[in-house]
Amino acid sequence: MNIILLGPPGAGKGTQSAGLVERHGMKQLSTGDMLRAAVKAQSPVGLRAKEVMDRGELVSDEIVSDLIDANLTAMEPETGAIFDGYPRTAAQADDLDALLAKHGRSLDCVIELEVNVDALVERITGRFSCAKCGALYHDTANPPQKEGVCDVCGSTEFKRRPDDNEETVRTRMDEYRAKTAPILPGYEKRGIVSRVDGMAGIEEVARAIDGILG
Ligand code: AP5
Repeated sequence: MNIILLGPPGAGKGTQSAGLVERHGMKQLSTGDMLRAAVKAQSPVGLRAKEVMDRGELVSDEIVSDLIDANLTAMEPETGAIFDGYPRTAAQADDLDALLAKHGRSLDCVIELEVNVDALVERITGRFSCAKCGALYHDTANPPQKEGVCDVCGSTEFKRRPDDNEETVRTRMDEYRAKTAPILPGYEKRGIVSRVDGMAGIEEVARAIDGILG
């Protein structure tokens, strides 16, 4: 299957993608993760993207669609893709249709994580991840089982994202409302949108998503 997880910053796209990878052997294609890797590597794409990301604005459609194309090229055709944080604009939605056709795939489902936007700032500012394996945590909602030790790889080093501050989060929310939410009606017309209550607990959200995927 090829699915899109859609929702504003902090809705739980990354958290649920990680669960889908583990349970269903799908591959997570997160443009945010790809861009952060490019920034870390100080590649030409990373150098162009860094300031835009630090402001909470969207990187150019061309850059992210090229990243998705490269990742689809590297994937086994039978592995399902989870698009996490892509598409984010009408142009990217068109690009995705073209890329899926190019790679012999089709879109099965768009899952919208419905959330209370007021709760998201707290979710995002409480987020941290394992510096070694990238496992995602939250100060109160999802801390490691043993304080200071990653559940997945045992590392004791953690990090926070530079764009996870309140001011940048507000810009990211505005970008979502203005540019990303408007792509939903197009998918609704195609009859492929399902909605999940993203305010439920992490495991409950995962069960609801599994119920949709069947
Ligand atoms: P990106 O990395 O995609 O960030 P985002 O969309 O803002 O989404 P987040 O990663 O913040 O949230 P999430 O929904 O994954 O939530 P998570 O699971 O982590 O993009 C970053 C930047 O890159 C953009 O601002 C832009 O500049 C650029 N970019 C990326 N893609 C682009 C594109 N296509 N086009 C242009 N620019 C692009 O959860 C958040 C926290 O909540 C965690 O701590 C988690 O533990 C906790 N949590 C999760 N679920 C629950 C739950 N059910 N209950 C309680 N807590 C929960």
